Amino acid sequence: MAKKTLPIRDVFSSKFGVIAAAAGSAVGLGNIWKFPYIAGVYGGAAFLFVYLGFIALIGLPVMLSEFTIGRKSRSNVFGAFKNLAPGSPWKLVGMLGVAAAAMILAFYGVVAGWSIDYVVKAVSGNFAAKSPGELESMFTNFIETPLTPILYQIFFMILTMGIVIIGVKDGIEKYAKFLMPILIVIIIILNIRAVTLEGAAEGLRFLFYPDFSKLTADGVLSALGHAFFSLSLGMGTLVTYGSYIGDDNNLAVTAVQVTIADTLIAILAGIAIFPAVFAFGIEPSSGPGLVFITLPNVFQQMPGGYFFSILFFLLLTVAALTSSISILEVVVAYFREELKIKRNLSTVLATVLIGIIGVFCSLSMGMLKEYTTFGLNFFDLLDWISANLLLPLGGLFISLFVGWYLGRKKIEAELAKGAGVVSWLLSVFIFLVKFIAPGAIAIVFLHGLGFFNFG
Ligand code: PHE
Repeated sequence: MAKKTLPIRDVFSSKFGVIAAAAGSAVGLGNIWKFPYIAGVYGGAAFLFVYLGFIALIGLPVMLSEFTIGRKSRSNVFGAFKNLAPGSPWKLVGMLGVAAAAMILAFYGVVAGWSIDYVVKAVSGNFAAKSPGELESMFTNFIETPLTPILYQIFFMILTMGIVIIGVKDGIEKYAKFLMPILIVIIIILNIRAVTLEGAAEGLRFLFYPDFSKLTADGVLSALGHAFFSLSLGMGTLVTYGSYIGDDNNLAVTAVQVTIADTLIAILAGIAIFPAVFAFGIEPSSGPGLVFITLPNVFQQMPGGYFFSILFFLLLTVAALTSSISILEVVVAYFREELKIKRNLSTVLATVLIGIIGVFCSLSMGMLKEYTTFGLNFFDLLDWISANLLLPLGGLFISLFVGWYLGRKKIEAELAKGAGVVSWLLSVFIFLVKFIAPGAIAIVFLHGLGFFNFG
C-alpha cells in the first residue's frame, strides 16, 4: 500500500491575511500596556530612542530571519532547526523558544484578564467621578484580590484556546483581519483627546525630548528585551507564522510593514498616555498599572468617554488575543508536530499548563507577593527572564543561524520567492544578521547583566 501522504499544513490565504496575523501578533499588550509603563520607568524619550535603534538594527533583521527560517522549513520552531540543521544542537534554540512562549503567555494572560475586567468596569460606569487617586486604588485593589483576576485570566485563556483550535486560516487570520484596523482608529481618537488636555506638553516632552544621562544599563537591556517582545521575536512566533506563509509572499516587505505598524502603535500609545499622565499628576514610573490608571482619567474628560472606554478595553483585549494566539501556537505546533499529539489535545494541554503557571503569576500580585526572587515577584520574574533574557538570547542564535549557518545562497533562494532580490539590500541584511545584530545583543546583554561596564 502506498504510504500515507503528509498532513497538509495550513497556509495563510492572502497577503493581507499574513500582515494582519503577523501584525496582530506583534501589536498587543506589549505596545499599549508594556511600552508606556517601561518607558515611564526608564525615563521616557531616552528609552524610546534606544528602543527605536534596536528595532531598526536588530528587530527588523531578526524578523526577516524568522520568516525565512519558518517558510524555508515549513515547520514548528523546534522542527525548523531540526530540518534545516539535522543532527546539530541548533534545535535547542527551538526548545528555548517553546519555554519562552510558555512563560510569556502565563503572565500575558493575567494582564489580558485585567483588560477584560476593565471592559466590565467600563460598562458599569465605574470610572465616572473618580479622582486619579481613587482610580489608582481601584486598580491596585483589584489586582491584589485573589479570585476575580484569576477568573478573567482563565476566561481569556479559554478564548485563546478556542481560536487556536479553529486553526490558522479560519481562526487566527479571520479575526486579526478586521479587528486590528478598528484598534488603530480608537487609539488615534484617544491621541486627539490626550494632546489637547491642559498640561499635555510636559508629557510629550517626556516622551520625545531625550535626556540620555537618565539611561541605565538596565534600561538599555530592557529596551532591547522590549524590542524583541513587542515585535514577537526571539522565540519562534514568526518562525511558526512564517511556516504558514505562501511562496508568493515577499518576506522582506512583510517584515518592514509589520515592524512599522508595531512601532507606530507603540508611539501612538505613548502619545495617548504620557500627556494624560502629566495632566493628572500620575507618576510616570508607577509601573504595570500605568495604562489602567491613566486612561480612565482621560475617558472621564472626553465627550462619549463612557462609550470610548468600553471600546478601548474591548479592543485592548482583542489586541491581546491576536497576540496570545500566536504565542500559544508556538507551543501547540511543537506538541503537534514533534510530540505527535493531535491538534485539539495539544491545544488543551498547552492551555492548561500555561494557565496554571498564570494563576501563580496572578496570585503573586497579592496573596503571594512576599515571595520574591532577586526582588521580583513571580509575575515580574517571568516577564524579566523571558523578555530580557530568553528573547534576546533566541534572537542572537536566530541571527547567527541565518547569517553563518544558512548563508547567502540559501537566504537568497528563500527571499527570491515572491520577490525580486536587490543584491545590495541582501548584502546589508546579511551583514546585519552576521555581525551587527549578534554583536549588539551580546554587548547589551553582558553589559546589562553587569559583566562589564562602560563606566
Ligand atoms: N508582541 C506581543 C505584544 O506586543 C507579545 C508577544 C511576545 C507575542 C512574544 C508573541 C511573542 O503584545
